[in-house]
Amino acid sequence: MSPPPPSFTSISSGDAALVASTCEEHGLTEAEFSELHRRCVAAKSTAYCPYSQFRVGAAVLSADGAYYFSGANVENASYPVGTCAERVALGKAVTEGHRKIRAVAVATDIAPPASPCGMCRQFIREFCDLKAPIIMFDKDDNYKVARLEQLLPLSFGPEALPPPGPRPS
Ligand code: THU
Repeated sequence: MSPPPPSFTSISSGDAALVASTCEEHGLTEAEFSELHRRCVAAKSTAYCPYSQFRVGAAVLSADGAYYFSGANVENASYPVGTCAERVALGKAVTEGHRKIRAVAVATDIAPPASPCGMCRQFIREFCDLKAPIIMFDKDDNYKVARLEQLLPLSFGPEALPPPGPRPS
């Protein structure tokens, strides 16, 4: 059997050469990568997850590279009402005026790394290029990285809709 593609292999964030190659491949500086890592791990500690005890932290970087926003999962006694970390972080970015996001990072307490749920993939699709990296950190700071288009192939996005305006009758 052929080896898995590099994008689905766990990489140690302590391996400077591999991190450098991830950054080069995805157009991130090493400072941006490390800031995304730090912020998504820190956000995990703000999770409100009394029902699942499954903490998730997310961090996003604005397209201009100047702003970071982070969030965590927020659960609810009425279970389906709870919100994932990725959507909290993206909602914060968007409501602060940043609708174009260059990279998304997610951290959990498990290994291998968890990847964003289907609903979050679609939510990310609204604000990121299909080539945008989604970086997934595990409990030991190892990570996997995939482009949005790999996580959500043949996706539906805003450009599929007709421009706003009067609809034909
Ligand atoms: N969760 C996230 O925050 N992001 C995901 O992409 C997957 C799941 C949260 C939702 C819920 O609070 C907990 O993880 C368990 O499903």
